[in-house]
Amino acid sequence: MAEEQAQTEVKQQEDSEEQVVTPWVAHAGEGQTGIDYEKLIRQFGSQRIDGDMMQRIESVTGQKPHHFLRRGIFFSHRDLAGTLDAYSSNKPFYLYTGRGPSSESMHLGHLIPFMFTKYLQDVFDVPLVVQMTDDEKFLWKDLTVEEAHRLAFENAKDIIACGFDIEKTFIFSDIDYLSTEPSFYKNILRAQKCVTVNQAKGIFGFQDSDCIGKISFPAVQAVPSFSTTFPKIFGESKDVQCLIPCAIDQDPYFRMTRDIAPRLGFHKPAIIHSSFFPALQGPQSKMSASDPTSSIFLTDTMDQIKNKINKYAFSGGRDTKEEHEEFGGNTELDISYQYLTFFLEDDEKLTHIKKEYESGRMLTGELKKELISVLQALVSKHQERRKKVTDDIVKTFMSYRPLTFRAAE
Ligand code: TYM
Repeated sequence: MAEEQAQTEVKQQEDSEEQVVTPWVAHAGEGQTGIDYEKLIRQFGSQRIDGDMMQRIESVTGQKPHHFLRRGIFFSHRDLAGTLDAYSSNKPFYLYTGRGPSSESMHLGHLIPFMFTKYLQDVFDVPLVVQMTDDEKFLWKDLTVEEAHRLAFENAKDIIACGFDIEKTFIFSDIDYLSTEPSFYKNILRAQKCVTVNQAKGIFGFQDSDCIGKISFPAVQAVPSFSTTFPKIFGESKDVQCLIPCAIDQDPYFRMTRDIAPRLGFHKPAIIHSSFFPALQGPQSKMSASDPTSSIFLTDTMDQIKNKINKYAFSGGRDTKEEHEEFGGNTELDISYQYLTFFLEDDEKLTHIKKEYESGRMLTGELKKELISVLQALVSKHQERRKKVTDDIVKTFMSYRPLTFRAAE
């Protein structure tokens, strides 16, 4: 009965006419062409990454910002200036991100925060912790504990294939790490004591019918933001700051974390948010593993990629060739064009495609062909790298050990 009621409530959020963005549901408002990210910034109270911030990033890193920044894909933040200040004054900081292992394979959308995290690790030369929330996925999905735990290791291979530095990266399954490091559980307890059920309901929309595991879970996702959760890596110091790259759906967890951090004597973690890699069906919702027709998976064959794009990728083109040539295509709506903004790195080529498509000189079929070749190259390279990730490599990334770390000067 409780299960049925919980499903009805998720269904109500899914069906809502209003825009809804939570860690579990993301869709645009009725009649909107896509998610309204300005509205989210206002609603969540984060900051837009503006021109000044871009310049600051460029001057601190000494290089042109990543194309995810230049194109507004990472568009919002909290306290990013604090992280840049720490870096400029040689104070240590670390990166924290994660994955909820709910499916055998990750999809292209999941790559976005991991590709960006890899860029951040490279430019700042900092340690990274990656949380695999097998506990979360057991609580939320129809999975056994054993299966969720197994998927954490499978997904870790995709994450490792993104190219993280083995000397500087610790990937952990919650189930394993909880039974390894008492400081993890101690910080979870501290966090749990700071948040009431009422507050958790307000932040996450929990209902009385939800199991108690869900209500206490946010503390588990919160505490990797605190350096003392990893004493082997950071010692007992509370003074190591944390930056969290993620899509904006994870923000509720970190709003809660930032709220409790000062009460526990920790720095508030800084956050950098990406927009969503949209579903094949259009920019009104995000690519999601729970709807396989919305997604291109990292395990898809080259033919599957081609067929999915040809069959499902929503077109911003006109109904007939004549109309298209007269009025041009709509790149805001066109999924193939939108996907290219994420994965075609060449700025000039992208600008050219936009011009050609909007003028009607380029047809939907040609645009799809461009995208198919970009994605086939991306996914096949990923698959090659993943094949080279042996069990021993996974074991090393996932063993709790000291990491190379630039200590405070
Ligand atoms: P999960 O597994 O749902 O997603 C993993 C990461 O991918 C992002 N993401 C997307 N980004 C762009 N476009 C999409 N369509 C898309 N779908 C998902 C998510 O925002 C996330 O960054 N509870 C988390 C796991 C987690 C975590 C963290 C994530 C634990 N600690 C710290 C980020 C930071 C989850 O289930 O993520």
